[in-house]
Parts: sequence; structure tokens; C-alpha cells
Amino acid sequence: MLFLAIFSVHFVRYAVALNNGVGKLPKMGYDTWNAFACNYDQERVLAQAEAMVKHGLVEAGYNSIILDDCFTLKSRSTGGKLVEDPEKWPNGLKYFTSEIKKLGISASAYSDAGYQTCAGYPGSYGHEAQDLQTWTEWGFDYLKYDNCYIPFDNVTQENVYGRYQRMSDAIASHAAKTQSESFWLSLCEWGWQQPWIWGKQIGHSWRINGDIRPWWSAIASIIDQASFVYWGSGFYGHNDMDMLEIGNTGQGSPVGNLTYDEAKSHFTAWALLKSPLIIGTDLTNATRETIEILGNRDLIKINQDPNIGEAISPFRWGVNPDYVSNATHPAQYWSGNSSYGVLFMVLNTYDRPAQMFFNLTESWAIRAGRMYDVYDMWSHTNNGTALRNISLTLPAHGVAALLLNDAGPEPEVEGTGLPYCAGYWQCSWPNGTYYSN
Ligand SMILES: *[C@@H]1O[C@H](CO)[C@@H](O)[C@H](O)[C@H]1NC(C)=O
Ligand SMILES: *[C@@H]1O[C@H](CO)[C@@H](O)[C@H](O)[C@H]1NC(C)=O
Ligand SMILES: *[C@@H]1O[C@H](CO)[C@@H](O)[C@H](O)[C@H]1NC(C)=O
Ligand SMILES: *[C@@H]1O[C@H](CO)[C@@H](O)[C@H](O)[C@H]1NC(C)=O
Ligand SMILES: *[C@@H]1O[C@H](CO)[C@@H](O)[C@H](O)[C@H]1NC(C)=O
Ligand SMILES: *[C@@H]1O[C@H](CO)[C@@H](O)[C@H](O)[C@H]1NC(C)=O
Ligand SMILES: *[C@@H]1O[C@H](CO)[C@@H](O)[C@H](O)[C@H]1NC(C)=O
Ligand SMILES: *[C@@H]1O[C@H](CO)[C@@H](O)[C@H](O)[C@H]1NC(C)=O
Ligand SMILES: *[C@@H]1O[C@H](CO)[C@@H](O)[C@H](O)[C@H]1NC(C)=O
Repeated sequence: MLFLAIFSVHFVRYAVALNNGVGKLPKMGYDTWNAFACNYDQERVLAQAEAMVKHGLVEAGYNSIILDDCFTLKSRSTGGKLVEDPEKWPNGLKYFTSEIKKLGISASAYSDAGYQTCAGYPGSYGHEAQDLQTWTEWGFDYLKYDNCYIPFDNVTQENVYGRYQRMSDAIASHAAKTQSESFWLSLCEWGWQQPWIWGKQIGHSWRINGDIRPWWSAIASIIDQASFVYWGSGFYGHNDMDMLEIGNTGQGSPVGNLTYDEAKSHFTAWALLKSPLIIGTDLTNATRETIEILGNRDLIKINQDPNIGEAISPFRWGVNPDYVSNATHPAQYWSGNSSYGVLFMVLNTYDRPAQMFFNLTESWAIRAGRMYDVYDMWSHTNNGTALRNISLTLPAHGVAALLLNDAGPEPEVEGTGLPYCAGYWQCSWPNGTYYSN
């Protein structure tokens, strides 16, 4: 009886934090950190919001702005409350959030599970409920929660999980107490302690890696990491591969040097692996190519698929043996299912153009003995009907993103009079004789 009572108390506590109706699909939005670090204010962020509208990105689904580190003063008030920075927000944060709401964009706060944020602003450890109240007053509905300046073990007697759970619990009770929709909680513990296993119990997304950098080796290493933890993503809980470094990387992070083909690979992997899609570049002078990539409706539709929450997964690593991690040469052949057809992502990880090849039946989601119509999610064209395999040439670090739909039974193999068997080592005639090639 005693054990049952303890179990049910815990069950209720977790169920409140978990099953709160928000965060089913990956978040789409904008984050100030990578382009501006602490160097932003009302004027600068409103300019990003206006650029998002102008370029059709809000309409494409990017409907949130995360004010990352540095939006408050460095000291709390005497009552312990967070204080908005009056230089950054001359009309107040409430004014800022209501201005972007008029543009169809919601506002997100940033804080930290320790004493201070990574840039030395107040962290929320010990102030969880108070800070949630303040963010609500300012008009925020989402929280990115970092992992710097954590208290010593003897203070918390908790690991990463327990330190993050404090805010998760505060969010659940805040929502219950105020009868309002729950905050989204985005865990930013950089993949320290396998958040893809437990993150769903605490929040809605979790970073699987350290901070992204705007060049290919960083993109490749995050894709390599994702090739081993893709299974962590699903409805209400998403592997966060960090911001999209597509376009003008601005003043916050070092100047980026992704090529057009690399930027397409970056976006394809993030979209199909069901990562939150959070823009981290300066959009005010975005090029046509940047907007074309960030606004790819075919890929956004898959990222935001209302019926299938699982990410694509590698079916063959390619350059390296299967299941071998290689930060510069991650898995090349990926597939998965969607509401709109079977997905394939083919990545040329070589530094030169390469011929890529796969048999359709290497993907679990394909039906053997069927042909498939091929739609290219970058050229947005129908590219004919595939029979058994697809062969393509990709530029250095380039990608193909394909959507396949059933086109009926495949014809007999010409000339041989024999049926085809994708798993030829196991196909047999009804009398029990194995098929032999
Ligand atoms: C944790 O350890 C430090 C150093 O021994 C000590 O000063 C502090 O009081 C301890 N805190 C708690 C909560 O035990
Ligand atoms: C891009 O920048 C990174 C970091 O500075 C550098 O290591 C890499 O060689 C650059 N790549 C190209 C193609 O210039
Ligand atoms: C956008 O502005 C940045 C910084 O002012 C500059 O470095 C970059 O070249 C500009 N990009 C375009 C496409 O104009
Ligand atoms: C990664 O793969 C490349 C290409 O095969 C190879 O040259 C490199 O040595 C590999 N790196 C590691 C750490 O295995
Ligand atoms: C793929 O998803 C579609 C649409 O939800 C579904 O009808 C189909 O059965 C799925 N295919 C497999 C192999 O799971
Ligand atoms: C593709 O299918 C052919 C014919 O069954 C087979 O010989 C080949 O090994 C397969 N290739 C891969 C990469 O699975
Ligand atoms: C599909 O066709 C378009 C238009 O011809 C072409 O640009 C694109 O490269 C093709 N895609 C593939 C994967 O072959
Ligand atoms: C690819 O499939 C075609 C049939 O469409 C077949 O003729 C060809 O041999 C296959 N290629 C490989 C390498 O298996
Ligand atoms: C089984 O059936 C196949 C196909 O009809 C035939 O080629 C084979 O000889 C048969 N094997 C035996 C042991 O009868």
C-alpha cells in the first residue's frame, strides 16, 4: 500500500508536466543569440520580426522569437524580481511582445537552471515560480533553459535531470494555478546526459549537442550525432539540433561560410530529423537563396507533419561501416515515413561531387514489388517513376530530399522469366526450394 501511494504521487506529478497539450510539433522561430549575442535591443529585434513577415517566413510557420541571453538587467530587484533592461526596451518588454504579436509572432524567454545565465545575467535557480510569473506578465509563453553556473552537488543533491525538473514542475503548477496554457520548455543542456532518453518527461525539446558553428564540419558532426539518437524525437518531444545557420551569420557568432549546397543539406537534415527550426542569422538583408532555403514549404510540411512525429533514420552509413560514428563523414542514406509519402535523404559527405545509389527496398517504409513516383523536395518537381533503385549525382556536401509515392506493381525482370527478390538470400518457391540467382 505504501509503495502504491508513493508511485501514484509521482505518477500524477509527471503526468501534469507531460501531458499538457503543447509542444506536439517542433517549434519554428527565431533566436537572437547566434547573430547578435548580447548586442540587441527593441529596434533590432523588431527589424528581424518585420523581415520575417516581409519574406513570408511567418506565413511559412516561423511564429516565435526567442530573446536569448541578456534581455534583463544583471541584478534582480530588492524583491528578487527580474528587471527588464530599460536601454534595450525603452517602451518595456510588454510593449515589445505585443508589437510582435500583432505580426503573428509569439515571444519566448531565456533563462538558466543555475545561479546565472551563461552571459552572467540572473539564473532562475530558486526563483522558478517567481520568474515564470514575471515572464507571463511580460507576455512570454516559451522558455529556453540553459545549463551554466549550476549550484554544487551538496546544494541541489540533484543531477541534470533533477535540476531541470524544478522548472518543469514550476511550469506545470503555474499553468494549473493560473488556468492558462503551459509554457513550452526547451532544455539547453547540450546533450550532457542523454536528454533524448529523459527529456520528454521534463520538457518539449532538448539540445543533443553543444553550440552549432556556421561551417560544414559543425553541421556534419551534428548530423553524425543525430544518426545515433534520431529515435528520441516524436510528438511532444524533439531532439533539438540547435539554430539554423543559413544566411548572414551576423556579429554574434564567427562569420559563417556554408555554401548554398551545404546550407540545403543543413536545412534538409534539421527538417526531416524533426528538429525545432529556429533561425539564428540576421534576416534584414537576407538573400533570395537564404529565403528559398528557410522557406522550403515541402520540407517544412514534413517537419510539421500532424500524423507522423518520428524522424528519418539512416538505413546505410555509406562512406563508413554501418553504425560507425564519424564526425566529418556522417551517414549518407536515410529514410522514413510521412503523411505525404516515403522520405529519402541522400547526403554526399565527400568534399567532391559523387555518384550516389540505393535500392528502394533498403528503406523499411518501401513496399517490395512496387514502383514509386519520385518528387524532388528541392526542385519541387516530379522526377519520373523509380523501379527498384535510384542513382543520382550530388555536388560536394550536397543533398537530395525525395518523396516517393506508390505507382503500382513492378514489371517482371526482362528476359529471365524469374520474379524479383529484394531479399534474394531468403526467397523460396512454394515447394521450399530457395531462389538462386
Ligand atoms: C556545500 O558545501 C560548501 C563547502 O563545504 C559549504 O560552504 C556549504 O554550506 C554547503 N551547502 C550546503 C547546502 O550544504
Ligand atoms: C570555414 O570556416 C572554418 C572555420 O574558420 C574553417 O575551418 C573552414 O576551413 C572554412 N571552410 C571553407 C570552405 O572555407
Ligand atoms: C548583410 O550585412 C552584413 C553585415 O552588415 C554583411 O556582412 C553582408 O555581406 C550583407 N549581406 C548581403 C547579402 O548583403
Ligand atoms: C571519417 O571518414 C573519412 C572518410 O572515410 C576518413 O578519412 C576518416 O579517417 C574518418 N575519421 C575517423 C575519425 O574515423
Ligand atoms: C506511412 O504513413 C502513411 C500515412 O500516415 C500510412 O498510411 C502508412 O501505413 C505508413 N507506412 C508504413 C510502412 O508505416
Ligand atoms: C541492390 O540490389 C541489387 C540486386 O538485388 C544487389 O545486387 C545490390 O547489392 C543491392 N545494393 C545495395 C546497396 O543494397
Ligand atoms: C528532378 O528534376 C529537376 C528538374 O529537371 C532537376 O532539377 C532535379 O535535379 C531532379 N532531381 C533529381 C533528384 O534528380
Ligand atoms: C537498378 O534497377 C534496374 C531496374 O530498374 C536494374 O536494371 C539495374 O540493374 C539496377 N541496378 C543495380 C545496380 O542494381
Ligand atoms: C521447386 O519449384 C521450383 C519452381 O517451380 C523448381 O524450379 C524447383 O526445381 C522445385 N524444386 C524441387 C525440389 O522440386
